[in-house]
Amino acid sequence: MKDTEFVIEMIGISKNFPGVLALDGVDFKVKPGTVHALMGENGAGKSTLMKCLFGIYKMDAGKILLDGKECRFNSAADAMAAGVSMIHQELSNVPERSVAQNIWLGREPLNKFHLIDHKKMIQDTKQLLEGLNFNFDPAARMSSLSISQQQGCEIAKAVSYNASIVVMDEPTSSLTEHEVVHLFNIIRNLREKGVAIIYISHKMEEIFQIADTVTVMRDGKVVRTDPVSEIDSNRLISLMVGRDITHRFPPVESNIGAVCLKVQNLTASNPRSFKNISFELYKGEILGLGGLVGAQRTELVEAIFGIRPVSSGQVFVNGVPLRRLTPHEAIHAGMGLVTEDRRQTGIFPLLDVTVNTTIPSLDNYRTKIGLLDHKKLIEMARTQNHQLRTKTPSMSTLVQNLSGGNQQKVILSRWLMTMPDILIMDEPTRGIDVGAKYEIYTIMAELVKQGKSIIMVSSEMPELIGMSHRVIVLCAGKMTGILGKQELSQEEIMRFATQFA
Ligand SMILES: Nc1ncnc2c1ncn2[C@@H]1O[C@H](COP(=O)(O)OP(=O)(O)OP(=O)(O)O)[C@@H](O)[C@H]1O
Ligand SMILES: [Mg+2]
Repeated sequence: MKDTEFVIEMIGISKNFPGVLALDGVDFKVKPGTVHALMGENGAGKSTLMKCLFGIYKMDAGKILLDGKECRFNSAADAMAAGVSMIHQELSNVPERSVAQNIWLGREPLNKFHLIDHKKMIQDTKQLLEGLNFNFDPAARMSSLSISQQQGCEIAKAVSYNASIVVMDEPTSSLTEHEVVHLFNIIRNLREKGVAIIYISHKMEEIFQIADTVTVMRDGKVVRTDPVSEIDSNRLISLMVGRDITHRFPPVESNIGAVCLKVQNLTASNPRSFKNISFELYKGEILGLGGLVGAQRTELVEAIFGIRPVSSGQVFVNGVPLRRLTPHEAIHAGMGLVTEDRRQTGIFPLLDVTVNTTIPSLDNYRTKIGLLDHKKLIEMARTQNHQLRTKTPSMSTLVQNLSGGNQQKVILSRWLMTMPDILIMDEPTRGIDVGAKYEIYTIMAELVKQGKSIIMVSSEMPELIGMSHRVIVLCAGKMTGILGKQELSQEEIMRFATQFA
């Protein structure tokens, strides 16, 4: 007989980082067979709490009980062996190895000669994947899989360890709607088998769809734990940000001027990507770019910015055609691009906040004799990050030590500092908490009021509808619709987004 109703109890957990008390006496308990959501602002301490549980960080105080018995994991391997698994916010696998090798890393089945039994390993993996309804090849290289498939591998790995607790840190941030449905089915299955799922997300709707219980954290402390059935989204938001938010979007009041960017018949070199895209962006406009994951929206904006090759078509800025599409030309013509994937194209993890913020605008901060004006740089970077409320112990903190959402804010600060006339934002609020989202929207509204223009790629319908003057919808690389403010609705966007699906 178990003498506790909880599978995991974290009691009085504290964790200090230089300059930050990330966790301050946190109590967190999870029942088996439940989905327990963990919510809170960027930097609240959610990932840190889970990393303490998982043995990645050593806690400074507190204890962890697993099935009522005190335990302490010294490494992730320890935790997995005890049945605690974690699907990370930023996926971490060995890209050049196969699916099977990644799943069985460090505990490969051996044959009678004590060599790795590849055949069995592939066979076991196949069974495991089939059980979860994943249809990718166990022998495929990790790097050849989509994000959702890679995540699938991590889930398969958790299942292979017979996990009794699976932590998922923002698992749906790069999934298509279809993949989210699949993931939720898997979660429900695991729950039925008695597994406890700790689910971290900034997406309010998901919490109400999938979670049984929700714990809200703020500033390293637990604010409350409630059954999801007894709480609504307004209450949840106010618990998270510590105040009521009545409006999710600020008013966008700008004067629409002349065409500032014209994209004409743009076609990607990659035949599987976008084709024949033409549209115009006006001065003072926020132009939304909607569509489902895979619609080629990121590819399109990256091509406009000169990161991806095109086979034909032209881009005009203020009526002047760009001679070549390169990032250098684009920046020179007054464009900025906030990338969606902070890990691959966004941050420099081992450099500090100042450098990460100022990298593309260094030339604006030279003294008369051409030297960098460091004092001014730090000051400007500080001001910009302050405006977005980036939470960092100092300007010289390495960006890798910031929470996921705060890394995103640094990238946003970076491009705001270059003061571009045309700002392209790819999923600008992904991984950003509700309070900070509002800050970002306010800045967008302010920019267009000043006569700047914005292209915003977004998968969040409310955001597209709440912020855009017009929305262009892509589906499978083709432009399927363009909707004016009056026609904007979730149904209309979906209709065009699934035109060819
Ligand atoms: N390795 C580290 N070194 C220094 N500070 C850290 C480290 N990891 C986290 N922190 C700090 O601890 C605090 C909590 O961060 P954490 O990543 O747990 O936030 P979070 O709630 O997961 O936020 P998000 O929603 O943005 O992912 C932040 O202030 C962060 O900067
Ligand atoms: Mg986090």
